Amino acid sequence: MSQYTFAQYQESADAIRARIGGFVPKVAMILGSGLGFLGDEVENPIAVPYSQIPYFKTSTAPGHKGQLVFGTLEGQRVAVMQGRMHHYEGYSYEEVSYAVRVLRLLGCDTLLVTNAAGCVNRDWSAGDLMLITDHIKIFMESPLRGENLPQFGPRFPDASHLYTPALRQVARQAAEELDIPLREGVYMYFPGPQYETPAEVRFARIAGADAVGMSTAPEVITAGHCGMQVLGFTLLSNMAAGILDQPLSEQEVLDAAAAAREKFSGLVRACLRRL
Ligand code: HPA
Repeated sequence: MSQYTFAQYQESADAIRARIGGFVPKVAMILGSGLGFLGDEVENPIAVPYSQIPYFKTSTAPGHKGQLVFGTLEGQRVAVMQGRMHHYEGYSYEEVSYAVRVLRLLGCDTLLVTNAAGCVNRDWSAGDLMLITDHIKIFMESPLRGENLPQFGPRFPDASHLYTPALRQVARQAAEELDIPLREGVYMYFPGPQYETPAEVRFARIAGADAVGMSTAPEVITAGHCGMQVLGFTLLSNMAAGILDQPLSEQEVLDAAAAAREKFSGLVRACLRRL
């Protein structure tokens, strides 16, 4: 099993430092399907392609650019990942969340993560935004599997508050101020790339999930392990399989992301101002 060493994470961080000079990012942002445009709105941007960072993988998913953008957004020092890695692209969970540890070494103490996901909760609608309160990830091995790197965190990290309660409160206030309805719920991870079956969606509902998606959980586990605060948002891009009598399509997801663009970026920006 491949296992990165602490020295490798440091090497990646050093390569980035050589590009960004004395800039120290505070908030790492991982933006999901069709939501990467916020990276284009970063002020005084320095873009570093993943291909130029040692040990970084490239993201192959549609709508994922494959670069890190450093700069400021709403006065906040950010490092935006335009494009994330997914397990379904063939990467291990350790590879999927590699960048989180590198961004931690560069100074980030907060991870703001977004995704598009299927809506499991029948009382909600496609197009709604959801604040992630917790996740279920029973169908994946841990990104922390293998030798623990104590420089990042403990062998058995607590996971009771992966999605930082104080940041959830920040999100509620921001949404209220902007008059953006914000759902709150549990995100359930499925590895994909096939969408879930209707039976799997029923299972997710019984298990307590409100949304199903193919990302986020690995990066959040890794961020929690190395002591980062986490704020997560889901765009419920479609009703999950079996709820409506229609097949799911990637185009539907991208269209929903485009339609939610203003609402979503307004909310994220308002949160950044408050962090
Ligand atoms: N399931 C899993 N991932 C997704 C979905 C879905 O319905 N929609 C967008 N990403």
